[in-house]
Amino acid sequence: MRVGSMTHQKGLFISFEGVDGSGKSTQARMLYDHLRSIGYPVTLTREPGDWSEGRKLRDILLNGDLKHGKTELFLFLADRCENLSQVIIPSLSRGEVVLCDRYTDSTLAYQCFGRGFNLEEVESLFCWSGFPVPDITLLLSISQEESLSRMKGRGTSDRLESDLSLMSKVSLGFRSLSDRYPDRICILDGEGNPDKVFSRVLEAVERIFW
Ligand code: TYD
Repeated sequence: MRVGSMTHQKGLFISFEGVDGSGKSTQARMLYDHLRSIGYPVTLTREPGDWSEGRKLRDILLNGDLKHGKTELFLFLADRCENLSQVIIPSLSRGEVVLCDRYTDSTLAYQCFGRGFNLEEVESLFCWSGFPVPDITLLLSISQEESLSRMKGRGTSDRLESDLSLMSKVSLGFRSLSDRYPDRICILDGEGNPDKVFSRVLEAVERIFW
């Protein structure tokens, strides 16, 4: 079943996914700079929190002391509703390329595979909310050892990142999602230096552009 079945008519919607430390934010930024430099209208956004008042929600999500098991899930969905209305849909309607650093697959990987929510139920919430499906999802894959060492290098970790058993479930979750949606999710080797990884990103994107 293809979920979040709202289609968008214009623009190109690309999501970046991966475990923490996979380098997707760096790659999303590199693609943004590249597309701009060759004249494409492009918008870069990230979840959670990249809309007018999103910082407050992001802070609660990453650092809040949440008690009810479903609050986290609903806040990620609420955040996405605003990001779609304020940023993603307007940009797609103008015919832009939208690059989104984390999107629905993060919810499936973290809240379903990680926290144990039922995948079909959460996907039906995506549908009910009218979340558009990305044209392509670039999933940056790195080993757990590499992810841990990159996170250590960063020094700080948030509420989700510091939960190691969650991280290993999330990593397996992303793999299962790529099997579930092979036409949309493109797995890319995220190991190696950023330029090397970017050449893989560009190759994948060029396949859909041209
Ligand atoms: P962030 O600091 O943006 O991490 P990264 O730079 O690795 O993207 O934190 C976002 C965190 O939120 C990250 O641990 C993944 C998590 N997350 C979910 O659990 N569900 C979601 O739907 C989204 C969008 C993110």
